[in-house]
Amino acid sequence: MSRIVYVNGDYVPEEEAKISVFDRGFLFADGVYEVSSVIDGRLIDNGAHLERLKRSLDELGMDAPCPLEEVEAVQMEMLKRNDLTEGLLYLQVTRGAADRDFNYPKGAKPSLVMFTQAKKVTENPAADKGLSVITLPDLRWHRRDIKTVQLLYPSMCKEEAKAKGADDAWLVEDGQVTEGTSNNAWIVLEDGTLVTRQLSNDILHGITRRAVMRFARERQIKVEERPFTVEEAQDAKEAFVTSASAFVMPVVSIDGAPIGDGKVGETVKGLRKIYLDEAGRL
Ligand code: PDD
Repeated sequence: MSRIVYVNGDYVPEEEAKISVFDRGFLFADGVYEVSSVIDGRLIDNGAHLERLKRSLDELGMDAPCPLEEVEAVQMEMLKRNDLTEGLLYLQVTRGAADRDFNYPKGAKPSLVMFTQAKKVTENPAADKGLSVITLPDLRWHRRDIKTVQLLYPSMCKEEAKAKGADDAWLVEDGQVTEGTSNNAWIVLEDGTLVTRQLSNDILHGITRRAVMRFARERQIKVEERPFTVEEAQDAKEAFVTSASAFVMPVVSIDGAPIGDGKVGETVKGLRKIYLDEAGRL
């Protein structure tokens, strides 16, 4: 059975979902997106995702395709029409279709597209095994706080990681880790303190990062927001990444150097459990 995809007001089978070749998302990567997880038929922390969508649009001077409450109503309808109880919901807004011109077109109508991906997100074998990551220079643009669809560099990095037998890459700038290719990077110090880079234009302001930070602080776990080097990460007790699709995912080696004993540690295991236990309330 084919999925039902949403394209600018229509719910259509995926084979029939079409977008203009003049769409600026296609020509200029002039678009933003959000990925929300679905557990038990419910979108996780979706209010925060919609808030960030609004921020991305504002930063790019892009009109919303419709009020956010309507975007949310379409999201709900998509879960219903696809009978999605567990998986991901992807949504993308672009500036719309117009004749090719670097300047923003006047009067173009923003496009809104959504699709679902049914998959097990709560049970992930990678969470038991942990990820191996390599480090690569962060060659992305300097507005990484805007969740744009220009994902070619992260794709190149994931390909390089795969070619080297690793699961993913952490990006490094001026000797410090910025974030993962599609997730925020964290380390756990010997005393249990969590460290993740502070918010700025250098990283995406992760929704999962924010929730994990709150859950940790509520449990008197110390969180430091500051940059860290690859060496500090390799010497850390544990390491992990956070994202809407992976939640809390352990990292067990960086550039071939095992973190701690190279196995998934208790802190990260605990944080993943806390996140999944609390997810129903986000
Ligand atoms: N990626 N940093 C980057 C560069 C990301 O692409 C993502 C998310 C994150 C984590 O943000 P959040 O916790 O809000 O998902 C950090 C999504 C999942 C993706 O592109 O599929």
